[in-house]
Amino acid sequence: MFADRVLSGMRPTGSLHLGHYHGVLKNWVKLQQQYECLFFVADWHALTTHYDSPEIIEQNVWDMVIDWLAAGVDPSQATLFIQSKVPAHAELYLLLSMMTPLGWLERVPTYKDQQEKLTEKDLSTYGFLGYPLLQSADILIYRANLVPVGEDQAPHLEFTREISRRFNHLYGKEAGFEEKAEQAIKKLGSKKSKLYTELRNLYQEQGDESALEEARSLLNEQQNLSLGDRERLFGYLEGGGKMILTEPETLLTETSKMPGLDGQKMSKSYNNTISLREDPESIRKKVRTMPTDPARVRRSDPGDPNRCPVWQLHLVYSDENIQDWVQRGCRNAEIGCLDCKAPVIDMILAEQAPMYERIKEYEEDPTLVRNIIADGCEKANKLADETMRDIREAMGLGYS
Ligand code: TRP
Ligand code: SF4
Repeated sequence: MFADRVLSGMRPTGSLHLGHYHGVLKNWVKLQQQYECLFFVADWHALTTHYDSPEIIEQNVWDMVIDWLAAGVDPSQATLFIQSKVPAHAELYLLLSMMTPLGWLERVPTYKDQQEKLTEKDLSTYGFLGYPLLQSADILIYRANLVPVGEDQAPHLEFTREISRRFNHLYGKEAGFEEKAEQAIKKLGSKKSKLYTELRNLYQEQGDESALEEARSLLNEQQNLSLGDRERLFGYLEGGGKMILTEPETLLTETSKMPGLDGQKMSKSYNNTISLREDPESIRKKVRTMPTDPARVRRSDPGDPNRCPVWQLHLVYSDENIQDWVQRGCRNAEIGCLDCKAPVIDMILAEQAPMYERIKEYEEDPTLVRNIIADGCEKANKLADETMRDIREAMGLGYS
């Protein structure tokens, strides 16, 4: 019912690596060309687990924004901001907490998982339990309907949809809602209002999802409905009240699993990364010392690319010709492992070099990044305030 809006956030974990680039940032760059996009630094989220080491946050925030920019995230197309500079996220988090059943939070699978994994930290805190709700506030405050995240975040999105539904159910009722909805139906014109009513009945009486879909697209095509009537008709379809918040969809990131230097997923905790800030000499060295198929002890020993992490990188970077050359050369011991690694090194360097340069430029002039973020925060604050007005009013806080 609202125009498509994409929102995603990243915790400031420090400077980024090629895994972030292939897994997340390339996707953001694509999305910013198709949709209105909001990308933000989830610095409050970082404090839920790192409340005892605040000194790392500030540096990490700026490094991360610089890396986004270097990767091609474009402030003229997308809005970039920092969570803690839009305090309304915290207000919404507080308000949502009033209606969030404790059991819903305790049941989010990441809660127990992370507590068990990060045993060196005491995560039996209120803030950590509330992590998914803070994320819901991030999303709902912009009425974002598309949220690109990895699989691990799917439970948080599901939780957010439940919160949104519960909110609309509890607070979406306005005085005289049914009458207003019926009047809005009439405004569709006789043919369409009949169709809307039929589809609504089909959905409500028989749970017919396709009727729901059809009715939604009918509404989406209406140009001259007021915003209020639109919301009423969308809400009325599903039997609830006015929809104040949207239900976000997960935009599952195409799983481009960037392999690390050891063949496992590239990740800081495996110590197998190539940073966007890695200097070229270090990249060469890292790839040259990568492990290969252990069967190739001598150059004359044939190997199997499927047992070699270098091949994983060829799958990401090389065209068919080079891949054929690797397959044949490796299996017949026609090429050495250093020969095989040379094109990978070239391609990683070619991809990373422009980012490396841009990072240096942004580092030299910190005001560039500060200004970009100041602009983005201003825009985000405006958008957030629009939703907050409706929310405060719905929750009985509309007085001044
Ligand atoms: N929890 C997300 C992560 O760990 C980061 C995040 C916070 C986020 N708020 C968000 C992602 C809102 C998408 C939308 O990756
Ligand atoms: Fe790996 Fe290439 Fe060596 Fe084969 S030739 S083992 S694919 S590095």
